[in-house]
Amino acid sequence: MKASTGIRSKITRLPVHVAIVPDGNGRWAEQRGLPRLAGHQAGVQKMRALVEYLNEWGIKYVTLYGFSTENWGRPREEVEGLFRILKERIEKDVPKLHRKGVKVRHLGRLQDLPAWLQRSIKQAEELTKNNTGMTLSLAFNYGGHLEIVDAVRRIVADGIPPEKIDEKLFSSYLYTAGLPDVDLLIRTGDELRLSNFLIWQTAYSEYYFTQVLWPDFTKEDIDKALLAYSQRERRFGAL
Ligand code: IPE
Ligand code: MG
Repeated sequence: MKASTGIRSKITRLPVHVAIVPDGNGRWAEQRGLPRLAGHQAGVQKMRALVEYLNEWGIKYVTLYGFSTENWGRPREEVEGLFRILKERIEKDVPKLHRKGVKVRHLGRLQDLPAWLQRSIKQAEELTKNNTGMTLSLAFNYGGHLEIVDAVRRIVADGIPPEKIDEKLFSSYLYTAGLPDVDLLIRTGDELRLSNFLIWQTAYSEYYFTQVLWPDFTKEDIDKALLAYSQRERRFGAL
């Protein structure tokens, strides 16, 4: 699948783990005089094609921020509508991603989501659990602070002695256990912040911010983000 040959040929180094904060659905809808949910519908509908495109690039780990623990503060109709849209997309798109070898996993507090949404997430994980291609992590009802609090609780509950706690052990208690840290974080929608997303896992990530609103984000925009990553020099604090 070709998007933008000119840019593509300049990309010489790829991230292993790409995390995305898809922002701007509401503004996209408002600009068109549509209800916010129409923006979420358009935004969530885009996900599969872009995930497949990253898969074609050979990206091994993709993590999407679908719903944050702070998003509960939105009007009830928006929250419920968004859950319904997410469920529909999971049920339609995961079987297609499954055929491409994608393995789906959930990050966050599953137990606080409506039972019908929990079911479709669990079914998606179950269907794809033996796949060995890209790992697609869906952060639904995810919060970075809460993830760290949940990890501490489990470490204490497991009775781990303080001297055994190091960065490696701590990472293994996060929702993201087994995933590599994020190399490239993409945020659309013209906001320059992390919003409580993967705060531990992005300590050394490269950030790519764009004004493009998520429903307008294209394969060519992915190429631009990959190119920006490819052109950066990562030193991890060394000289
Ligand atoms: C991002 O779009 C989607 C979610 C947070 C679920 P927004 O709904 O935040 O869109 P804006 O920021 O209001 O445009
Ligand atoms: Mg927003």
